[in-house]
Amino acid sequence: MTKISVSMLASDYSKFGEEALRMQRAGVDFLHMDVMDGCFVPNISFGAGVIKAVHKVCDAPLDVHLMVNDPIRYAQDFAEAGASILTVHAECTPHLQRAVKFIQSLGVKAGVALNPATPLEELKWVMDDIDMILIMTVNPGFGGQKLIPATIEKTAQAAEMIRRSGRDIELEVDGGVALATCAALREAGATMLVAGSALYGAPDAAEMLRILRGENK
Ligand code: DX5
Ligand code: ZN
Repeated sequence: MTKISVSMLASDYSKFGEEALRMQRAGVDFLHMDVMDGCFVPNISFGAGVIKAVHKVCDAPLDVHLMVNDPIRYAQDFAEAGASILTVHAECTPHLQRAVKFIQSLGVKAGVALNPATPLEELKWVMDDIDMILIMTVNPGFGGQKLIPATIEKTAQAAEMIRRSGRDIELEVDGGVALATCAALREAGATMLVAGSALYGAPDAAEMLRILRGENK
């Protein structure tokens, strides 16, 4: 079954914990935490302290998406804050394999994210190491954007790379996941969809979850 990771970026920040619990009750598989440093991406969101506070009140596993330069420097803080999966951008470190291994040494699963224009070839020599690939289907920095169509074919090619590796690697897509795009992403081979505005904007989050998973009717 397709997993759904809800992006907390689209929640009401004045009641962050309650918003996380509401999505947990609706049945999400993960809480997606978008960490932005204002350097790698043109926006600043929240850090390990906020994530740790949510982890105290909410049992849902945390899927932490680091949009920060020099992610190795911060990995331990996010592992200690309760991350189950920690994803770094290939564009953010010259030592990608080291970053992946370091994250795993902290007892956390390691993902690698690629911006829309970054080729899949960046992953070729870490396919033996990674636990997850995150295909950005928008340019990172903001929620509520429209999916870039070329990223659907890119997702399909990533799925093929995973199949050829013979390894059990999660394939996550992030940005613009909505009613109109979720079926194409699932068909392309995505195993985990990130949804922010689609879930927080829905009158019935549980129903939207079923739609995103392709379970309705
Ligand atoms: C973008 C973030 C996404 C974003 C998704 O930089 O990585 O996780 O919040 O939001 P929606 O689902 O609204 O496109
Ligand atoms: Zn994200």
